[in-house]
Amino acid sequence: MTDNEKNEMIVTPWEVKGKVNYERLIKEFGTQPLTEQIRQRLAKYMNGEHLQLRRQLFFSHRDLDTILDLYEKGIKFVLYTGRGPSGPVHIGHLVPWIFTKHLQDAFNTRLYFQMTDDEKFVIDDDRNLPDTIRLGHENALDIIALGFKPENTYIIYDVQDIDLLYDIALEVAKRITYSTARSTFGFQDSTNLGWIFYPAIQAAPCFIHKKLTGENVPCLIPAAIDQDPFWRITRDIAQKLGYYKPAQIHNRFLPGLGVGGKMNAHEPETAIFTTDPSELVKQKIWKAFTGGKGTVAEQKKEGADPEICTIFQYFTYLFEPDDKKLSDRNTRCRAGQTLCGDCKRELTERVNKFLAEHQKKREKAKDVLEKFHIKR
Ligand code: TRP
Repeated sequence: MTDNEKNEMIVTPWEVKGKVNYERLIKEFGTQPLTEQIRQRLAKYMNGEHLQLRRQLFFSHRDLDTILDLYEKGIKFVLYTGRGPSGPVHIGHLVPWIFTKHLQDAFNTRLYFQMTDDEKFVIDDDRNLPDTIRLGHENALDIIALGFKPENTYIIYDVQDIDLLYDIALEVAKRITYSTARSTFGFQDSTNLGWIFYPAIQAAPCFIHKKLTGENVPCLIPAAIDQDPFWRITRDIAQKLGYYKPAQIHNRFLPGLGVGGKMNAHEPETAIFTTDPSELVKQKIWKAFTGGKGTVAEQKKEGADPEICTIFQYFTYLFEPDDKKLSDRNTRCRAGQTLCGDCKRELTERVNKFLAEHQKKREKAKDVLEKFHIKR
């Protein structure tokens, strides 16, 4: 394999490989860049630009301008996002959810949160259904711990709540041909039937609000860009079914701690899970991939590269809210004044402080899990 082939970018809902070129994704997927102008428009309602907007974690959208136009005319929207419970939640997962919570607070709007135990079961030969269902409920604790409002948060567990989704999924499925699904998702002859039908299930929450309340309002989906194919096919049929097209705001992938920011489910040391004890967090951060040099002497002389450093990314997206301090850290790193050990120690402290709080809230969430379950 040549280096080029190894680095070839593949981005589908079930596989992300190679170096991700976000500009190219905007072109290939046909989405809109999240321009300064639209960020400012959003910030007006959000009490300033939130860190995740300012640092351009969110970089692309579909119809966010339409959502804001309608909002200004008095038509509200609902939020929709989700999680495939394939394992424990790691810190990277929290970042777009934290932003979703800002949106819920700013617009005082309802959130539908889909827990796709069905999806994770059908796409993986090695996964059994009871475990996947259980993981869904465990992952929900992390969502609740972030402080979403119970009266405005409706978690849908696909297997348990299928009765609420099924009629909508049927309406959707009937209008999408196999040929469209195959070319959108790359299905093969060997793809199982559950997987092939699944996109109709992920489309259903886009439209569920009307069924539950009688109100026909658009939904806005904060999600990583790999989920876009689902919304593409959903947007094509929305109007035929009498709904608004679902709008999106897309985030970048959050880096793991492995080489090149990789995070691998088979290498648990490349991600920090929300339930990790502090000593383990320390070890993981200590082993993380940085932009540092082979020796201290070399690094002091030549400086290091924060662009490729996973530790610097964690500061950027979550753990250094102060722009000035972040840019100072960047400068000192490049100049060889701050060494990787310094950054790792500081990050460990911040992550462990955050996790201690999060873990407390996660425990408390066990008592209120049912309050967040979709209300019928
Ligand atoms: N397919 C997503 C995953 O594997 C889960 C999901 C369902 C989702 N509905 C969503 C993610 C809406 C974002 C927005 O993680």
